[in-house]
Amino acid sequence: MKTKLFFLILMLGSLLTQAQPNFITNVNSRTNTSLGGKWKYIIDQYSTGAIGFSPLYENKKPKDKTDRVEYSFDDAQSLWVPGSWNAQKDELYYYEGSMWYRKTFVFQPKLKNSRVFIYVGAANYKTQYSFNGKRLGEHEGGFTPFSFEVTDLIKEKDNFVILGVNNRREPDYIPGMVTDWYNYGGITRDVKLVEVPQTFIDDFTVSLKKETVAAKEKEIEGELTLNGDQLPAEARVSIPELGLEQMVQIGDNGKGTFSFKSKKLDLWSPENPKLYTITLSAGEDELSDQVGFRTIETKGKQILLNGQPIFLRGISIHDENPIRADRAHSVDDAKLLLGWAKELGCNFARLAHYPHQENIVRMADQLGILLWEELPLYWGINWQSESVLENAKRQYAEVIRRDKNRAATIIWSIANETTPGDSRNKFLGSVADYVRELDSTRLLSAACKKDLAVDGHPDNDYLVSDPIAEKLDIVSFNEYIGWYGGAPEESRKKTFIIAYDKPVIISEFGGGAIQGFHADSTTRWSEEYQAYMYKENIDMFERVPGLSGMTPWILADFQSPLRQLPNVQDGWNRKGLISETGQKKKAFFVLQKYYEQKREAVK
Ligand code: GCU
Repeated sequence: MKTKLFFLILMLGSLLTQAQPNFITNVNSRTNTSLGGKWKYIIDQYSTGAIGFSPLYENKKPKDKTDRVEYSFDDAQSLWVPGSWNAQKDELYYYEGSMWYRKTFVFQPKLKNSRVFIYVGAANYKTQYSFNGKRLGEHEGGFTPFSFEVTDLIKEKDNFVILGVNNRREPDYIPGMVTDWYNYGGITRDVKLVEVPQTFIDDFTVSLKKETVAAKEKEIEGELTLNGDQLPAEARVSIPELGLEQMVQIGDNGKGTFSFKSKKLDLWSPENPKLYTITLSAGEDELSDQVGFRTIETKGKQILLNGQPIFLRGISIHDENPIRADRAHSVDDAKLLLGWAKELGCNFARLAHYPHQENIVRMADQLGILLWEELPLYWGINWQSESVLENAKRQYAEVIRRDKNRAATIIWSIANETTPGDSRNKFLGSVADYVRELDSTRLLSAACKKDLAVDGHPDNDYLVSDPIAEKLDIVSFNEYIGWYGGAPEESRKKTFIIAYDKPVIISEFGGGAIQGFHADSTTRWSEEYQAYMYKENIDMFERVPGLSGMTPWILADFQSPLRQLPNVQDGWNRKGLISETGQKKKAFFVLQKYYEQKREAVK
């Protein structure tokens, strides 16, 4: 009886302690080698690659002329990594399924007696990973990193890493079956070989203590975690520019906490995106990062950055370089997208609808652009499934582990346009509690549901009373008056009732236009119609009680299988303010002017 009870407790314990991600963080500031470049690939249309006649991850070659092996990476074609397969080969544009990639390499250690990991920035959607013929595991989620240790498997030469990536959509995935974006498949972000000492700094968190933001002497607090058998008694943490240095006691669990006080700290803000180098060292490991210090909170209907009200002049962005028509994955892609946002006059961006590449989050830190980040709990999700809920929590834990030290990231959003109902409310309530437990320093929001007002209000009112907003700091919603219903001038009659005393962000509004198509402002798809709609919508949103920001939909045209109107969309969603050739539409300048006015108003 006792044994059964023991195993029951063990099982319950494992359910309660959500499996924490443990991928290698801050890879660019560690000893690393990119494995990007040409990888061999084998199409696995029936997804039998791991179980077939001979599993592809074994990388088999015929022993002699009598031997039977029914595949060959050596004789296969290549794909560039990072990059989706859809964007690289015409015959793969519409392919949804399983693809096996192989990279061979020699290993010249850069560190003596190092531990070696392979880090994947992202691969969409489900990836089976293996190394030198050994299956090591699987990762689910198309937009968050994962890594695996290969210390005991790596050799001097003839190494091969094989990733089996499957982007087939399923009802129990996140996102579900239908999205208004392209389901790019493949290894869409960089793959790196990372070397660390036997005992290394696995991770750290650092932030400004909220209560000290207005004090002369501000307090920075944080914690670090070591990974390895030989734990040193202490670690050193320093912020040289502030003349701060501290020895940190390391507990048996490999953790240590630290805090600094400083009268010289320059707060991070969009106007002054000040970053400090923080250096941590423990045993043979040393890790540096660039960190900005700020606080974010709400007070009634206001959002306060460093204790001061702020209006978030935002724009929604997809993680896609429209000119390359592929997933964004580089610093240059981040520079292109955030450069356009800066030109628009933005101090804020909604990284829709899934975690974007880390380069854009780090660049937002440098440029002073605040960020809304989200997971694709979008439209149709299987709210009844416990495993989908665990998947959602794990993926949030992954993006929080990756971005928790980024000053730019101020909002975690937990859903987009999902229909209220008992199971959805319970699911999202559990996600909200979990995200807040992981990161109490940032604000929660979601693109909530709104309804036509009832109880005697004229039918011109919209009522935003989505129950999930109880769990949020900021009430956000999408609204497309003038595009998905009514003419743009109908905006003049609309008013909004927000059932919560909280700040409001309009997380989407907008409409389509073909860049270069000019007509009168009542002609749909003309630049003039889109510009007229923006003018009318902006005037309407100015009347929303507690309006604290907006992220119009969307910075640039983007690919979507839902948009097939010939000679108008041709597979592209045309709501961009910029075309897929980088040309600005009239509405870009309408929004730019409005943001200029908003910026002047607070000076
Ligand atoms: C929705 C959705 C977006 C979509 C947009 C549109 O609000 O959130 O992902 O692209 O509307 O219809 O263009």
